Formats: sequence, C-alpha cells, structure tokens
Amino acid sequence: MTVTDPHTPADLAAEDRAGAFPPGFAWGAATAAYQIEGAAAEDGRTPSIWDTFSHTPGKVANGDTGDTAVDHYHRFREDVRMMADLGLTAYRFSLSWPRIQPTGRGPAVERGLDFYRALADELLAHGITPVATLYHWDLPQELEDAGGWPNRETAYRFAEYAGLAAEALGDRIGIWTTLNEPWCSAFLGYASGVHAPGRTDPGDSLRAAHHLNLGHGLAVGALRAALPASARLAVSLNLHAVRPHSPHPGDLEAARRIEAVGNRIWTSPMFKGRYDEDLLADTAHLVDWDALVQPGDLAEISRPLDLLGLNYYNPTLVSSVENAENLPRHDGHGESSFSPWPGADDVAFHLAPGEVTAMNWPIDPTGLSDSLIALHREFGLPLMVTENGAAFEDTVSADGSVHDPERAAYVKGHLGAVSDAIAAGADVRGYFLWSLMDNFEWAYGYEKRFGIVHVDYDTLVRTPKTSARWYSEAIRTGRLDHGIPSA
Ligand code: FCB
Repeated sequence: MTVTDPHTPADLAAEDRAGAFPPGFAWGAATAAYQIEGAAAEDGRTPSIWDTFSHTPGKVANGDTGDTAVDHYHRFREDVRMMADLGLTAYRFSLSWPRIQPTGRGPAVERGLDFYRALADELLAHGITPVATLYHWDLPQELEDAGGWPNRETAYRFAEYAGLAAEALGDRIGIWTTLNEPWCSAFLGYASGVHAPGRTDPGDSLRAAHHLNLGHGLAVGALRAALPASARLAVSLNLHAVRPHSPHPGDLEAARRIEAVGNRIWTSPMFKGRYDEDLLADTAHLVDWDALVQPGDLAEISRPLDLLGLNYYNPTLVSSVENAENLPRHDGHGESSFSPWPGADDVAFHLAPGEVTAMNWPIDPTGLSDSLIALHREFGLPLMVTENGAAFEDTVSADGSVHDPERAAYVKGHLGAVSDAIAAGADVRGYFLWSLMDNFEWAYGYEKRFGIVHVDYDTLVRTPKTSARWYSEAIRTGRLDHGIPSA
C-alpha cells in the first residue's frame, strides 16, 4: 500500500459529492466491549489486561477505568433502539473474551453468551445486521500471566474461544472479524507500552505479532468449522497510509520500513502466505524468525477470508532522520520513550500540515480513498471500512444539545473518500463509523469523545449530536450532498 504522492489535506466542506453506494451497502457504527459495556465483574466475567492496566496508577488519563463505561451491558436495548432511530443497517461490536470464557480456558459461560444472544436478537428484531469482532484487546489476564501474546499458546487459546463463540452465536451472527488492529495489540501493548499490558520489549512485540497472526488463522479455521457456509469472515487492520515526506531515497526507505512493520507484517502472511524478506531483515537483530515461525504456520495464517476490514483515521507521514537520538515521533500513537516501531529507529514521523482532530491526528480523507484503491488492486477481495471517525472537544448547550459540525464534516469527507474509491473500482461493502457513542478511549480514558451520540458520564444519558443527524440523513438518502445542520 505505497502512496508516493504527498497530498495536502482536502477541504472537507468545499465539495459536495452525491456519493455512490451499492445496494446492500452496510451503513454502520462500531464499538468495543471494554469501551462500552461496564459490568466488569458481573455474570462470571474475570479481569482482562485492560482491567489490570486501567487500575494501575498512571496508565490511563485521570485514572479512568471501564468498570462502568457507558453501562451498555444493562442499557443495550435502549442503545439498539437508538441505532434503529438513526437508521443504521449494521452494527459492529466486540465480544468480551473474559465474559464468554473467563480466564481464557475451559467451557463457555452461558450467562456471558446470553448477553450477546440477547444483543444479536435485539439487533435482528430492528433490522440491523450484527457484525461481531472476537478480539478488541481484552485478553484474559490469566493468559497474560502465562506469557500473553508473545507466548505461542495464546494463539491456540484464542482459536478455542473463537470456536466456542461461533458455536453459540453462529445462528444469529453472520459476519465475524477475528482481530481488531493487531498492530496496536502487538506494538502498543508490548513495544511502546502505552496500551495494556504495558510491556516494552521489541522482541516480544514481534513474537506477539506472529502469534496474533497465528491466532487469527487458527480462529478462521475454528470459525469455518462451526459456522454455516454463508458466514463471512474478516479481520480489521489499521493499515497505515504511509507517505514519504519527500521523494528523497532516505524518505522512501523510511516509508518502506514502516509499510513493512506497520502493514505487510499482517497482509503478507494473511494474503500471500509469507513474511516479506525486508521485514525479516529489518528485525533480524530483535527476534529469531526461524525459531518463531514454525512449519505450517503460514498455511494456517493465510486461510482465505471473505472481507478485509480497514480501520482508517489519518495518513502517516515519514522521513529518515540523521540524528537517531532526537526523533520527532508524531505517529499519533501516544507518548512513550519506547518506540512502537521495532527495527525502525531511524524513521521520523511528521505531523502533516493542516487541520487536526482533538487527538492531534491530521484530517485527510485522501488517505482513505488511496488505501481502499490500493488494497483493492493488491488483494482483490471485498473491503469494509470497519472504523473511521474523529474526536473533537464537544460542548453541551444549555438545552442539552451537542453541535459538532467538525465531526459531521469529517464523516462527510471520509464517506466522500469511500465513494471515490468505489467509483475507482474498489469493492467496498460497508462503512462503520467510530463510534456510535462516546466511550472509554483506552489510555485517554473518557477525555476524548468519538461518539456521534453524546454520553453524559454522570447520568449516562445518551443524546445524538449534529453529526448523528447528518449521518442519519446520509443513510436515509444514500447521498452525501446534504448540508450539515446548523445548531
Ligand atoms: C482504534 C480502536 C478503537 C478506538 C479508535 C479511536 O484504534 O480500534 O477502539 O479507540 O481507535
């Protein structure tokens, strides 16, 4: 997915595209279990690495945790009604591993499964297609204590859990994604340490990457064995839209390195059945790949998928650095003195010029269209945007309403990019806005709001924002050329 022409951020409001979305296009929103459910100790659920991490002082802003989150576990019927009111045709949520299989071993817990059965039934009753993610970062703590993702055994545990979930829920849920953003699990979790479990060993992060890949492949096998033939299987990857700062050979080399350890470390084993030689060479001093990758692993990892899920927020602008001691690292992935980019110490990350969101992430929808088109050309399989959205500083008016024209413009611009990619031939089957509602934003706690529905964290009252009204109209009409409502 090489994007060699640096783009300037598009003026989102300047152009009103009509949009072109195929029949059956999924108009969705996304969430994840630990970010919304709460009920952390109910019905048999045991702690995950995110419970441990968020309860460790200094790891999450303001000491926030997901103990209560937005209490979706108890309010899911109200939340599904809200989705139906918005007109969503699909909803992507994640299953909590420690709720379904506490401690990561042994039989499934019926009470945990019952929650997802009831959620799926409620969605289906409202005409909303459920899309389940098996792993959105909540590894049972016991499995971390046994070594976590750097331990090969975790991949087998994951496949077992996938099989249990599929057997219990396969009659209701037809679209499954295995992992959400394994790059974050491996490199934010085990290299930079800004995410749970907060470890900082580059070799372990690469071991984690391979075992996430292996877990994905084994889980695809377990899902296919348990699900009806009509089920569609996917993975959600945050592939970086990498752009070299200049055509200088050093900057092109920086882009190559980041594509290798950011993107091709997932796509090459999954879709081509190999790890690329340049990735292996870049990281050979950190891990013994020959010992790590065992015979048969690549055949497991490259089991065919039906869909590729892309999570996109912003492009990644890189160059070489002369002075490796003093790197700017505007990679958008949090602050740590440990890099989440093993084998890429001489790469500098730049903040692209132009507007940014409250995460300080540049706003540039061309990265989304470029990525979709590049993925279509390279891999040829149907695509879904499984996450896209933005945090902004929202203000609640005296009447309780939340006017967020910036978020609406962000969504409008990025849906325009999806429609551009479709017009250029990419087979894009759906778009899942991150997020349905404000929630626990990992290391940022409740400070960063991504929802199109506002949540008052004192009362847990949900209020659709202006962006929700705009998105709802896009879903209703299948078009993007309507204006953003004023307050
Ligand atoms: C993605 C995560 C999602 C959310 C958004 C903002 O990396 O998958 O849970 O935190 O970023």
